[in-house]
Amino acid sequence: MAVLASGRGSNFKAVAQRCTDPAYPVEIAVLITDNPSAFAVQIAGEFGIPVRFVQAGEKRGRLAPGGEERVVEVCEEFGVELVFLAGFMRVLKGPLLDRYPHRILNIHPSLLPSFKGLQAQQQALDYGVKVTGCSVHFVDRSVDGGPIIMQAVVPVRDDDDFDSLAARVLEEEHRIGPEAIRIVALGRFRVEGRRVLLG
Ligand code: GRF
Repeated sequence: MAVLASGRGSNFKAVAQRCTDPAYPVEIAVLITDNPSAFAVQIAGEFGIPVRFVQAGEKRGRLAPGGEERVVEVCEEFGVELVFLAGFMRVLKGPLLDRYPHRILNIHPSLLPSFKGLQAQQQALDYGVKVTGCSVHFVDRSVDGGPIIMQAVVPVRDDDDFDSLAARVLEEEHRIGPEAIRIVALGRFRVEGRRVLLG
């Protein structure tokens, strides 16, 4: 599997830790990042995972022209069969999606389809929902809109602020991210329209 990450890399780390269990059916072949100073790069070093860089685009949220093709090249170089977006801040629109249909997973800190995009935990607080959570979904051409593989619910407390809520959501991300990856890697799913049926 390739992991794509732009920042802190805590989801990357959670999966890398699971991968040290010989019973876990996945190996992380490469970390791909658009951000050379991402903490994820340090984590890759700790786990002995190779790192490759792609150029961020000038436009916010985009890779530089040819960037997505470069991601495909790196994935092919490492024999990648599965891709996990763990806080990757660039939208993928073409070549990678075509190369890995139903093989690219993203993790998002809300119960989709609520609160797509950035600062999802803040969006949940501002809206006043009583429960939020996180979702692992397949990536398609929409933003945060692909078929949902797994979700976890996190209650919102009256005294929550962004940090406290985001911390509890993150705990659940670290639990369902590796689990969803395991299920997809083992092929224990089928997609019927928007529904991903597990088992
Ligand atoms: C997580 O909240 C994830 O859901 C979102 O980006 C954040 C990445 O955090 N897509 P980290 O870099 O994995 O710590």
